[in-house]
Amino acid sequence: MAELAIPDPWVVLLIGAAGSGKSTLAARHFAPQEILSSDALRGAIAGDEADQRATGAAFAALHRELERRLAAGRLTVIDATNVTVAARASIRRLAAAHAFPCVAIVLDLPAPLVQARNAARAGRVVPAGPVERQLARLAATLEAGTLAVEGYAAVLHLRDPEAVAALTIRRVPTPRAATPRVATGPGGR
Ligand code: UTP
Ligand code: MG
Repeated sequence: MAELAIPDPWVVLLIGAAGSGKSTLAARHFAPQEILSSDALRGAIAGDEADQRATGAAFAALHRELERRLAAGRLTVIDATNVTVAARASIRRLAAAHAFPCVAIVLDLPAPLVQARNAARAGRVVPAGPVERQLARLAATLEAGTLAVEGYAAVLHLRDPEAVAALTIRRVPTPRAATPRVATGPGGR
């Protein structure tokens, strides 16, 4: 069973295509108030989580709220696809400005499973094309080894649903000055 020890407070950056299970993972392991979701913010702003016209405003709100939480010394989970270099960099920049390390959790599940889960959703279904592009971006990022050099304190790479289901997260209350090496069990790297 993979155990991820997360010093608290850190920033937890979820990475994965639409339908890969980021919100499900976040809800399972973290309290609702610890999760900043780009979709939820889009919904709050536009009244529709899928309204892409609200994307800019949603990310501005996400960054503002992250700043507030960092200033208050709160562990925060970023629930957005984060498949682009720029999206990840903007979160890391804010975290670094407050001396918060970032841990990345990558949901790198088989493409057919992600597409099937997305298509079967009761509520918001993302069109297959954008999901395919997100999957391709993530695959290219992993292939290039980009995440290893972006500056995360730890990267947990989950490759199948069994690894996701087996994941346990242990929070380690940690004074802000101390940044111990994070321990990841099998499946981590
Ligand atoms: P999520 O809604 O958690 O995906 O799961 P996501 O990554 O956050 O997607 P976006 O980015 O917001 O669009 C997608 C679907 O897969 C199911 C969920 O119930 C949901 O219907 N799911 C997720 C499972 O069936 N099993 C899981 O382990 C995770
Ligand atoms: Mg989601």
